Order: sequence, then C-alpha cells, then structure tokens
Amino acid sequence: MATILTVNGTEHRVDLPDDVPLLWVLRDEIGLTGTKYGCGVAACGACTVQIDGEAVRSCQVALADVWGEITTIEGLGNPQALHALQAAWVTHQVAQCGYCQSGQIMQAASLLARTPEPTDADIDAAMSGNLCRCGTYPRIRAAIHDAARALQEG
Ligand code: FES
Ligand code: FES
Repeated sequence: MATILTVNGTEHRVDLPDDVPLLWVLRDEIGLTGTKYGCGVAACGACTVQIDGEAVRSCQVALADVWGEITTIEGLGNPQALHALQAAWVTHQVAQCGYCQSGQIMQAASLLARTPEPTDADIDAAMSGNLCRCGTYPRIRAAIHDAARALQEG
C-alpha cells in the first residue's frame, strides 16, 4: 500500500515495503541526498532528520512508523534565506569534509527549538550522539551559541 509522506512541506507518494528505512526513502526514492548514511545502526547521527520537529535517526525509522511531517536539511533554509544555524555554520567555517554536518545541523535545530538559550552542557548533551571524525566539535558549539543569539534577537 502506498504511503503519503510530507517532506519539507511537499507530499510524496511512496510505494515501498513498510520496513524500508526512512533514510533510503529520502535519498533513493525522493532524491534528497543531503541526509547521509554513516553507520546504519544509530551510532553516528549522520542520518538525522526531524519528524514533527523531533530529531530522529532516519536509518532507524521504518517507513510504516513515520508519525508526522519530515524536515531534512534541504527544508531547513535555502541559499537565499539560510536558517540561523546554517548562517552560523558558514561564519564559523564549521564543516571540514562535511559528511556529518547535515545531521549535526538538524540535531542542533531540534535542540534550539526546545532550549532557545542552551548552555555548553546542554549543547554537549544534545549533540553527543552526532559524531564528527574531523573533530569540528568546538566550532559546532560556537556556531550553536551564535545561532541561538541570532534567533533570540529576531
Ligand atoms: S547512519 Fe543513522 S545513525 Fe549512523
Ligand atoms: S566534518 Fe568531516 S565528519 Fe564531520
């Protein structure tokens, strides 16, 4: 039976088995390749997207279990109107190889929605499941603080 998914505000009709992971649906079926495959076992965070604003590991969510509207990195902002996190990421030149970064930003966006003025400890706790082999953690933390300030100032 076909499933209707709402991704970044657009409905998609998906005709795939119920147990296909959302990550595969997003990348291979819908063509949104900003979300990355890292480990496939919920251990790296590269595949993080949001469902109804909650950060989830899309490698671990079966198509049949998607419970709400999906936001991926492509839907967070756009080149003409970057999300505050994306702008801060550019300012701090956070990305190195870049592979983990869409997951990092989606996780951070979920944090700021819940905790608009996070402390370092809040950031470290929220981001601890998002691994970066390039070691960008100090810049990620600084960029999240900058984005939080920008969002507070409107
Ligand atoms: S690919 Fe999903 S957590 Fe690593
Ligand atoms: S920027 Fe290379 S893995 Fe994070």
